[in-house]
Amino acid sequence: MKVLGICCSPRPGQATFKAMQVCLAAAREQGEGLKTVLIELAGLDIRPCLACGECNSQLACPIEDDFASLIPTLADEEVVGMIIGTPVYFGMMAAQCKAFIDRCVMFRRNGWIFRNRVGGVLAVGGVRNGGQELTIQAVQAAMLCHDMVCVSDGQPTAHFGATVFSGTAGGAERDDFGMQTASHLGKRVAEVALRMRNTNRR
Ligand SMILES: Cc1cc2nc3c(=O)[nH]c(=O)nc-3n(C[C@H](O)[C@H](O)[C@H](O)COP(=O)(O)O)c2cc1C
Repeated sequence: MKVLGICCSPRPGQATFKAMQVCLAAAREQGEGLKTVLIELAGLDIRPCLACGECNSQLACPIEDDFASLIPTLADEEVVGMIIGTPVYFGMMAAQCKAFIDRCVMFRRNGWIFRNRVGGVLAVGGVRNGGQELTIQAVQAAMLCHDMVCVSDGQPTAHFGATVFSGTAGGAERDDFGMQTASHLGKRVAEVALRMRNTNRR
């Protein structure tokens, strides 16, 4: 069983990445052999979907960029949970995140591959209330279109997902509340995925 964390910041190793590490560590702590895989989009060339329709009947895309290298990891049947992490840009997900999400349409069109995966969202802004919740809900909308099972950050914080801000002195790592929501989100995604594991996933 695997939980994927997709970090959509164009800046490698920065706040979104650090929050995702916290999130995935909490997922692993749920035990039972659960593994995590962190995909960083930083440095990858992932262009927007051109709506050509070529992926209507095949798990492939004619755009020659780095998305193809992610397909086997995203399609892996061992994956039971997916956490998408994005910086907040102008109150919304970063363009890199949107491009990634749109290119994932191939998994919906070819057997609903993400169906019943547990979905969680992590958003990092430069300020405390910079649009993290709106951003999370927009990413969750895409997860719902895949027939995924979206979860909150679980108890005791239990709202929309992980809401982190990087503008505090010392950066995101010093945002104690935000990092708590990141940890709770990873725990909740893993917990629900483990509860669902004996059900028919498709
Ligand atoms: C184009 C742009 C727009 C941004 N808009 C917002 C915003 O609306 N709200 C916010 O809280 N932070 C905003 N930020 C700040 C980033 O969300 C913040 O720096 C975050 O830490 C970036 O994630 P990273 O450190 O993983 O790259 C913006 C940054 C950029 C570059």
